[in-house]
Amino acid sequence: MAHIIVVGNEKGGSGKSTTSMHVGTALVRMGHRVGALDLDLRQRSFGRYIENRLAYLARIGIELPTPDYRTLPEIAPETLAQGENPYDARLSAAVTGLEAVSDFIIIDCPGSHTRLSQVAHSLADTLITPLNDSFIDFDLLAQVDSETGKVTGPSIYSEMVWQARQLRAQAGLRPIDWIVVRNRLGAQQMHNKKKVGAALEDLARRIGFRVAPGFSERVIFRELFPRGLTLLDLKDTGVDQLNMSNLAARQELRDLIAELRLPGVSIDF
Ligand SMILES: Nc1ncnc2c1ncn2[C@@H]1O[C@H](COP(=O)(O)OP(=O)(O)OP(=O)(O)O)[C@@H](O)[C@H]1O
Ligand SMILES: [Mg+2]
Repeated sequence: MAHIIVVGNEKGGSGKSTTSMHVGTALVRMGHRVGALDLDLRQRSFGRYIENRLAYLARIGIELPTPDYRTLPEIAPETLAQGENPYDARLSAAVTGLEAVSDFIIIDCPGSHTRLSQVAHSLADTLITPLNDSFIDFDLLAQVDSETGKVTGPSIYSEMVWQARQLRAQAGLRPIDWIVVRNRLGAQQMHNKKKVGAALEDLARRIGFRVAPGFSERVIFRELFPRGLTLLDLKDTGVDQLNMSNLAARQELRDLIAELRLPGVSIDF
């Protein structure tokens, strides 16, 4: 059985597609078989990221490990069971197709609530939620008392994950390992960073996720997309000298992979 990694957060622009590409590429570079699905059928940033990679590698004439990206198959309406949702059928067909040939399937979700995203969350063995380090983004996870800064209750997205957990428990599936990854760290003042950190730790205990430090705010992340590259590929594409910022970013990625504690994945690579 493939281990399914879902990257989700209903908040737009939190770093889901960037994280999907980096985690997926890291795993495939480590020798694992990685299938990739993009549920953001409109933007398709993750799918396009992988397509850019294949086009760029072909252009410069080298081969590098690349996740096996598949689009959701179209399903003929007459083949649907009575009352079956066509999106459910498409996702299920895509996962079934990849499961036999993958160790991991990485699924990138859109930055909004959709049926596809909701169903994908219930398929997650590991759920990664990148979070911009600000209280506006935190609001998607929990409500916070403005006076005291204390968490007063879960928010819509956390409740959706809770429902996905219930569904999995009923189906006898293993629990979701939920990891909230702080993204774009360092872009704001220390004071805010500490406050967000404390609120996250508080919430982690209450609703059951782990907190991982993710990526600092770095220009390099925006520059890689057109060539479909990740921080791990720079050396192979002729960048001999990684600058300090790139080296640090690569280390952040390695630390994240270790922190995900995925089955069969070595923690030092
Ligand atoms: N650590 C970072 N440093 C600098 N820029 C970043 C970082 N992480 C993401 N970005 C940039 O932020 C933007 C949003 O990232 P990304 O597309 O990965 O988010 P998303 O959650 O997938 O968005 P959406 O909800 O629209 O799907 C992109 O331009 C990306 O290059
Ligand atoms: Mg995206």
